[in-house]
Amino acid sequence: MGQKQRRSLIQTKIRNQKTNKKPTKPKNKQKNRQNKKTEQKRRESKRNHMKTQILESTSENIKKAAEIIKKGGLVAFPTETVYGLGADAMDPEAVKKIYEAKGRPSDNPTIVHIGRASDIGQLTRMLSPGIVNLIENFWPGPLTLVVNKKPKVPDVTTGGLGTVAVRMPDHPVALELIRNAGCPIAAPSANISGKPSPTTAEHVIDDLDGKVDAILVGGMCRVGIESTVLDMTEEKPVILRPGIITADDIEAALNKDVSIDKVVLQKTSDGQGNEENAPKAPGMKYKHYAPDAQMLVVEGQREKVKSEINRLKDLNEKMGNKVGVMLFEEKAFIEAAHDFFAELRELDRQGVDIILAGALSATDGVGFAVMNRMMKSAGYNIVKV
Ligand code: TXA
Ligand code: MG
Repeated sequence: MGQKQRRSLIQTKIRNQKTNKKPTKPKNKQKNRQNKKTEQKRRESKRNHMKTQILESTSENIKKAAEIIKKGGLVAFPTETVYGLGADAMDPEAVKKIYEAKGRPSDNPTIVHIGRASDIGQLTRMLSPGIVNLIENFWPGPLTLVVNKKPKVPDVTTGGLGTVAVRMPDHPVALELIRNAGCPIAAPSANISGKPSPTTAEHVIDDLDGKVDAILVGGMCRVGIESTVLDMTEEKPVILRPGIITADDIEAALNKDVSIDKVVLQKTSDGQGNEENAPKAPGMKYKHYAPDAQMLVVEGQREKVKSEINRLKDLNEKMGNKVGVMLFEEKAFIEAAHDFFAELRELDRQGVDIILAGALSATDGVGFAVMNRMMKSAGYNIVKV
């Protein structure tokens, strides 16, 4: 395809996206629909509404939050990766509430967080030398290990799987909360299902105020993207979700090859399952991290990416769209990971119609982990230049 042809295709694509987003309707009809929607939202929020305690992370408040967990309630809390929404992992009724608050599909298992590495023994019977090695090297930290579960781990916690995902977070508030609660804490990211993961308490409040018992306020999460999920149930370890602990890091610790689930950078099924390339981490198949804006990833050589983004920006602004640009420093992958979700949420807050994001040139490591999130956020909407 010639360059000119491709460009006009992109323009059409963007124009269509815009059209899809806001169909032109007679003003009155549109207004009526909006009123109906607002009314529906108001009724829903009334139904869901509970008083959420917003708590600074003092020792006293962490104890208070731990009591809520013990009584079967929900508490959002900071970890080094993203904020989590926690409940007693061994209490099926409590875990069910997590799914309700997030609007999360019930076959998407949670990660179980523990306060001491040895507590993994409560959740699994079999600890291979490889698992022990990884625990010694990376815990506390952003590495989640999928292991075979003990029967007493409730099915709701693991989405009905025979395995359980476990991690020990590297954050003083998270650790104190879990230790005070005296039980493992099941915690997915503390966002509404499908939205960008929260890296500040404000993000959590935006999504979950009125739906959870308490939110522990900490600073901005240090890592910014979620933990690496590693399946340790087969002979060969498999990365189900990339993170800042990379395949190289794990291979160096294990002195063994690690593979990456083949669907990690590919578009997967729409949540209906039954596809040949269904991911092993159920959560990877769902719509994810989607900003309210339409998002387009521009991939290619750096200078070309920049000029294409500028060109598309001008073009769209001329058509009356508000455009946000997401362009990270070259090779500054750790910073990109740290800022990625926060930038998405900030652009949504500004009410942009379109986000133009520059792809990171990385086929592995931390850059690859960020690209995994970027592609999902954009719904795999990509142009190459
Ligand atoms: O950094 C993190 O991992 C954050 C913080 C709060 O710890 N948690 C987090 O949880 O990202 P969540 O629920 O948003 O993502 C968990 C991922 C999902 O893709 C889920 O399908 C996968 O881990 N997972 C959980 N249990 C699994 C299991 N037994 N087998 C395979 N994948 C599993
Ligand atoms: Mg999540």
